[in-house]
Amino acid sequence: MSTGDGGCTATSLIHAGYEPQDPYRPVAVPIYQTAAYEFRDYASARSMFALKEPGFTYTRTGNPTVAVLEQRIAALDGGVAALATATGQAAVAVALLTLVRGGEHIVASSKLYGGTVDLLTDTFDDFGIEVSFADPADVGAWAAAVRPRTRAFLTESIGNPLATLQDLPAIAAVAHGAGVPLVVDNTLATPVLYRPLDHGADVVVYSATKFLGGHGTTLAGAVVDGGRFDFSAYPDKWPQLTKPKRRYGGEVLWERHGHGAYLALARSKYLHDLGPSLAPSSAVQILQGLETLDVRIAQHGQNTREVVRFLTSHPAVAAVHHPSVPDHPQAGLAVRDFPRGAGSVFSFDLAADSGQVGPFIDRLRLFKLVANVGDTRSLVAHPAAMTHCRLSREQRAAAGIGETTIRLSVGVEAAADLVADLAQALEPLAGAAPLTAGTPAAVISAGSEA
Ligand SMILES: Cc1ncc(COP(=O)(O)O)c(C=O)c1O
Repeated sequence: MSTGDGGCTATSLIHAGYEPQDPYRPVAVPIYQTAAYEFRDYASARSMFALKEPGFTYTRTGNPTVAVLEQRIAALDGGVAALATATGQAAVAVALLTLVRGGEHIVASSKLYGGTVDLLTDTFDDFGIEVSFADPADVGAWAAAVRPRTRAFLTESIGNPLATLQDLPAIAAVAHGAGVPLVVDNTLATPVLYRPLDHGADVVVYSATKFLGGHGTTLAGAVVDGGRFDFSAYPDKWPQLTKPKRRYGGEVLWERHGHGAYLALARSKYLHDLGPSLAPSSAVQILQGLETLDVRIAQHGQNTREVVRFLTSHPAVAAVHHPSVPDHPQAGLAVRDFPRGAGSVFSFDLAADSGQVGPFIDRLRLFKLVANVGDTRSLVAHPAAMTHCRLSREQRAAAGIGETTIRLSVGVEAAADLVADLAQALEPLAGAAPLTAGTPAAVISAGSEA
């Protein structure tokens, strides 16, 4: 019987990458809580250290429990392999460092999670890696930003916090025309809503802390290699993959691993040297979350539709930044590319002065003020003061984040309770009678992205 390795299905979410083993045949993935592995003999230790024989040597670079998670995520996204990391932040860093070295350049979306912007503009700047930001809605801006030393494009399939979409195949075509891979952070979409490798991406990254784990308990990340980008077509751009390396006994990674070379380098160099490895106990938490991912995403989506409908009709709301809003600039892309919904993390702007943001948030009871998204619980954040506080005013303006922009992560509670919570918190701002779920949309604005 199939273990469900074919795509992102309800079956593969539960079974892909795991077959119970003798003697006990545990139905749940066992936690191999070990730092290291006893070698069969000295010869085996030598050949494993020389990377000539596959196998686990030390949990920093691989663990059987973590490997199940890696194989499952690779199967869900249609990749050739995946690498789990301790956090999503580590996944983004490792995915990019494997492609880009000091003196080289990245073109990145101007609408990214704030922590990724910190990584690109501060830590990567320290490393001598240069970054240009391009509006994801303007494909020409990506082409114009390419330089001779560009080595990667980076975007989010659904941008955090404004739920920004883009024409991914068009951006992938620009990347490939420039001879560089496209890296897509698919955290807010998950493979249930969108599989970037099917739309031209070459590498997918996740903060598995969010929807994949889904219960707000565990930090984790993943890098998925699509295995299609031909690094050997541009050997001078990627000497780390296409030239002999002393570290690998003078071997060329591309010759040894072919289309698996990118992930082999990520694991054997960056996971090994920097050490942001996922703990096996955390891998099991994420595996357990994955089992219900499609069910949860459906409920997150249903609740989001109710909340968006309520907010778009409220007089105290100036704009709702969700692509399901009919006159949103990416409403057409949402219909084309996100038939199961464009996610449950989005923002709206209060029609009030910025001094009202704090009191509004403090009136919320169900929506918890939390620096996280993708939990079963509904969460609220104020990007200008929290996740995106280190961006300059200009960077925030380019990202479409205003002083009264509020981010919601809509959970899986009863939709009527969520709407009632927002209604009571907005009521003093509108000076109006409380609104109820299902109020017909009246005022819809696409907001600052328009
Ligand atoms: C889109 C996106 N990518 C990456 C990250 C970083 O993930 P983590 O917090 O697991 O390090 C986040 C965190 O919020 C995120 O929203």
